[in-house]
Amino acid sequence: MKYRLNTTNYHTFSVFGVNNLPPRSYFIPYPTRADADAVTPKRKRYASPKVECLNGVWDFKFYPLPAELPAELDTDAVAFDKLDVPSCWQFRGYDRPFYVNYRYQFPYKPPVIPTTDKVGRVFSWLGCDTGLRPRWITPEEEYNFVGVYRRFFDVADADKRIVISFLGVASCLDLYLNGKYIGYAEGSHNTAEFDLSGKVQPGQNELLAVVHRWCNGTYLENQDMFRNNGIFRDVLLRTEEPADFRDIDAKTAKKDGRYTLTLTAETHADTTVTFTLQGHGLTRTATVPTQDKTARAVFADLDVTEWNAENPVLYDLYYETAAGCVKEKLGFRTVEIRGDVFLLNGSKIKFKGVNHHDTDPRNGYTLSPDDIERDLLTCKQFNIDTVRTSHYPPDPLLLELADELGIYLVDENDIETHGTFAMQFPPTYNSISDDPKWKAHYLDRIAHLYQRDKIHGNTSVIMWSLGNEAGGFYNTDAMYDYLKARSDLPVHYESAIHCKKQAYDVGSEMYPTVQMVHDVGEKRRKQTRLNDRPYFMCEYAHAMGVGPGNTEAYWQEVYRYDSLMGGCVWEMVDHAVLHDDGRYTYGGDHGEWEHDGNFCVDGLFYPDRTPSTGAYIMRFIYRPFRVTHCGGDRFELFNTTAFSRGRYTLQFLWNDGSGTELTPDTAPLSKETVTLPMGSAVDGTLLLTVKTLDTKTGRCVAEEQPIVTLAVPVAPAVKALPVGAGVQDGRFALQRDGKLLLTADTEGTLLYRASTDNDTDVFFRRPLTPWQNQRSEVVSCKGIANGYEVVTRLTNGKGRYTVTDTYQGTDKGVLVTSVLHRERGSQTVPRFGKVFRLDEIFDTVTYFARSGESYCDMKDQFCVQQVTCPVSAMTEPNIRPQESGNRMDCTTATLTDGQLKVTFEAVGKPFELAVKPYTDRALTGMKHREDEVRTGTYVTVQAFQQGIGTGACGPAIMPEFCYELKQDCTLQFLIRVEEV
Ligand code: GAL
Repeated sequence: MKYRLNTTNYHTFSVFGVNNLPPRSYFIPYPTRADADAVTPKRKRYASPKVECLNGVWDFKFYPLPAELPAELDTDAVAFDKLDVPSCWQFRGYDRPFYVNYRYQFPYKPPVIPTTDKVGRVFSWLGCDTGLRPRWITPEEEYNFVGVYRRFFDVADADKRIVISFLGVASCLDLYLNGKYIGYAEGSHNTAEFDLSGKVQPGQNELLAVVHRWCNGTYLENQDMFRNNGIFRDVLLRTEEPADFRDIDAKTAKKDGRYTLTLTAETHADTTVTFTLQGHGLTRTATVPTQDKTARAVFADLDVTEWNAENPVLYDLYYETAAGCVKEKLGFRTVEIRGDVFLLNGSKIKFKGVNHHDTDPRNGYTLSPDDIERDLLTCKQFNIDTVRTSHYPPDPLLLELADELGIYLVDENDIETHGTFAMQFPPTYNSISDDPKWKAHYLDRIAHLYQRDKIHGNTSVIMWSLGNEAGGFYNTDAMYDYLKARSDLPVHYESAIHCKKQAYDVGSEMYPTVQMVHDVGEKRRKQTRLNDRPYFMCEYAHAMGVGPGNTEAYWQEVYRYDSLMGGCVWEMVDHAVLHDDGRYTYGGDHGEWEHDGNFCVDGLFYPDRTPSTGAYIMRFIYRPFRVTHCGGDRFELFNTTAFSRGRYTLQFLWNDGSGTELTPDTAPLSKETVTLPMGSAVDGTLLLTVKTLDTKTGRCVAEEQPIVTLAVPVAPAVKALPVGAGVQDGRFALQRDGKLLLTADTEGTLLYRASTDNDTDVFFRRPLTPWQNQRSEVVSCKGIANGYEVVTRLTNGKGRYTVTDTYQGTDKGVLVTSVLHRERGSQTVPRFGKVFRLDEIFDTVTYFARSGESYCDMKDQFCVQQVTCPVSAMTEPNIRPQESGNRMDCTTATLTDGQLKVTFEAVGKPFELAVKPYTDRALTGMKHREDEVRTGTYVTVQAFQQGIGTGACGPAIMPEFCYELKQDCTLQFLIRVEEV
């Protein structure tokens, strides 16, 4: 079939929609109430006889040279490939994955975008690949690629009204049917709907969709993520009878303890609508004839159980006409700002949140219903109760599931213009958002967000968000007014902080320091609009690589001040690309001419949703109960929930085996003090572990240790070294039966670590590099009473240090005493550890320490206990390998090959343990998981290692978690070899 293609819409600024239907609520009609009742939210859009899902294999033709897309396209002459819908074409072999953070992929000249020519010369001054310097680059073979999609569908009754809905297409869509033009839409994450009535024909129909990589709207979609394209969400074909609904709405309001529910419905033709509210013993129904195709019913004086995320009580709503039934779920709850306090159902509340992107390592933006459900269930399992849909509206299913599972949502608009910052001088956030000529574009986007999701504004959605990092404020004001005219919900928009607006209904910031948050609580911030209203950390605790460190400190403040609402960690899941051979790649690995490396590999969960330590940190920090030891037998219990009382059972378990259990009735967000029977120390060690059980789900939701007192032996009397222990060329070695068993590693002493992502700051400085340039030189090596003394000089880019090591015999093994002395240079030292090598056959570790990855500013998420595991479990599978796997508060660690046991035992105080399958030196050069080649078993016994912080995008390591070598530091421990 022949098509005359539109060649202008995508680059014509004034055009962002042609013939597309006005936005409306997302809903799925069913023929009858029984049919609507029979389906789960996940199956809803696939099971209705009134809706055909057009997912599946479509014909696809990719035009790497857009000029080759003919203005007259004859589909019979096109050699189509096959492509599954929904999907992103970069994840199916067309073009390639391209990750860039805040730069556009074309020259910044809003609203101009490349058409059929090469993109031309691109200026930027900030990026992981370039650093902080102006750069002009003219990328080769970079075009505004085009994908042409075709599929056939059959229509039985061509006289019916037929509407096609695209739930997500990046970046825009020109639609054609049976040789004719249908319309155009922009707004990648918004629903685009077109009326095909009168254009469909009985039997087979040919649908053609032309998708451009970029359109003018791309200026508003500069989110930090892989820049993907295609029809990436479901496509639905809806058959609508005259009596079917065009739109539906529901609005709840509370007065004097009772709710009023106002239901409205618009139909295509005048008819009669029956509205029903039902559930939990309540039924209200009203049958109303439409007037001007609109019907309305008000159910007043409703005595309902309120919805909250802890107890997500939902009622059924039915909208029925002779043509069919739409069923929705509804929660009753209020959101209110009183002074500077955000109240839910009239109660104070703290939002324990995370930012969620639609990201999948094999499918890019495309998430299946199971994926969406898994993500929300994962949040629940990790005590996360709030999701900011960064930075665009999610698939509408996510909202239905959030209502049902109990997750608060900050529903965000599809707007970000961050390139205004990185691609022009002087950088300014506001270039587009304060330019009135963009106003209609902004209003179009906010209308799509609000209209699609408005019903959920009663339940899971607690705030609308105008977008991300787009500054303001002419156009953001217009969007704010649009929302205020329609909804009582507060409006959130962080980027207001970058213009004189400062804040809309709530103050919001990203990556504040703890001090800044404290100052908000104290009402001392210079941006006064942060002081006088509730304050939300829309992004904090940058979870890139190892970390986030020092996150608990924020929650000390959040709990201290009523105006602090809590916030959302950045972010839930690592973005990366998974290949068939199991490799993961990130920015720059796909030949991107500009990229931001692994900056989007920054989640609490790995791309496959396996939890990283960050997830356990947040599970711990967001726990519903907190127990603190006040001294003696008194303990403070803190219920951090907003609504639950008597729901959690606390099991107090002492390491002497005794224990007790209670289910406190502590009021929400309050504390009480209890006395408990105390356990006794075992060999001087006293541990109290508290497990929190959710009596509703039976799950253990948290473990914490309010008492950790570790007994550590003092140095035993020295005597001659055992046979086989000695020092050669300045390196300690242990032989067994004439064979080398253990040696001090070549570097012997580590004052550095392989940089974590959070050891690189936003300006791409890597403060640890000078430390990694470490040279060591043995200054002296001599025999002393009962052993040896070796003095080594360590020189690095930060200074010069000497380490004096002695190795002496004792009844309990070789006593190692290592003294670090600063000759000159930095007093702050990142790490002090002694590293030893064993063969890789020593693969089983048994240790008594924090039971998982822990550093001094992030250790309480794991309890002190004995653990046995393989060496591979002692490092974390970061997508970009980096320092990982430290274990704090270690008293002993034993490595075994099944025959011999080599034990490292703390003397004087616990040490920090690291066991790695390769050297830290090798680790500094690794870029991907497959670089992690095993070369032995390397055990590092450390006096200290600095904390982690969140410096990649946030505060660096706090001074209290850095080590100041004010005087010489002594590290002492025993090494012992025994038969198993
Ligand atoms: C924020 C931004 C996020 C992400 C994050 C860093 O500025 O809103 O999208 O880029 O920083 O990972």
